[in-house]
Amino acid sequence: RKMVGKLTTGCMEFDEMMGGGIETQAITELYGEFGSGKTQLAHQFAVNVQMDREHGGLNGSVIIIDTENTFRPERIAQMVKGLSEKYGMELDPEEFLQNIHVARAYNSNHQILLVDSATDLANELREMGKPVRLLIVDSLMAHFRAEYVGRGTLADRQQKLNKHMHGLLRFGDLFNACVVVTNQVMAKPDAFFGDPTRPVGGHVVGHTATFRLYLRKSKGDKRIIRLVDSPNLPEGEAVIAVTTAGLTD
Ligand code: GTP
Ligand code: MG
Repeated sequence: RKMVGKLTTGCMEFDEMMGGGIETQAITELYGEFGSGKTQLAHQFAVNVQMDREHGGLNGSVIIIDTENTFRPERIAQMVKGLSEKYGMELDPEEFLQNIHVARAYNSNHQILLVDSATDLANELREMGKPVRLLIVDSLMAHFRAEYVGRGTLADRQQKLNKHMHGLLRFGDLFNACVVVTNQVMAKPDAFFGDPTRPVGGHVVGHTATFRLYLRKSKGDKRIIRLVDSPNLPEGEAVIAVTTAGLTD
């Protein structure tokens, strides 16, 4: 077993809550309502993973499986500029963009197949300067939810989803990579107190995701991230801000 790597956001509270950063060889699930910052966090990871270890990265490249067409190259450029200023380094946004491999998933079957394509690509990049250290699926459930409607389809959906989640775990193990998936929430009809939402995907996602993070909006550009589930860390909350330069404390 390879040594687990840690990928940071540069937000101290968050990185500390995660015991130094999100882990390789694990699935980290980001769930929360629309606009809670899941895609923003995913973009920040796609930038930071390319930094060297002294700057909180893994010196790696990234593959993004984009199901909702929400990847924004301009946003990556802003975040790279943010890091340039933070560290007083000259970082080239174009170089960062070249190390982000985006694949658009057209439906859930295609999404599952793209993990195989990602494996092929990661094998090719293995001997290069920047091996793949991060795989992002944004969003994990959108296609599944749209395609499998009605009670009779649930077992079928969960079986496909299970296969997908295990494909993702295997990828993380094989390449010593972080796997980040975003997930939507549904209202809990019976909960008036406490946490009014829960992630979709049921037990399959719940049991396969290693770390589960619940994002919610706070005042202005602030977002609260709660570590809900972890094999080795205490529950906790961290506040981050979504700014032009990227995510900050
Ligand atoms: P869904 O995918 O719709 O479920 O939402 P999400 O959780 O992925 O939300 P996302 O990460 O897209 O967050 C959107 C929020 O991030 C916006 O409401 C803005 O507040 C902020 N945001 C997005 N882009 C930028 C940007 O370029 N600059 C700044 N400063 N903030 C941004
Ligand atoms: Mg999003």
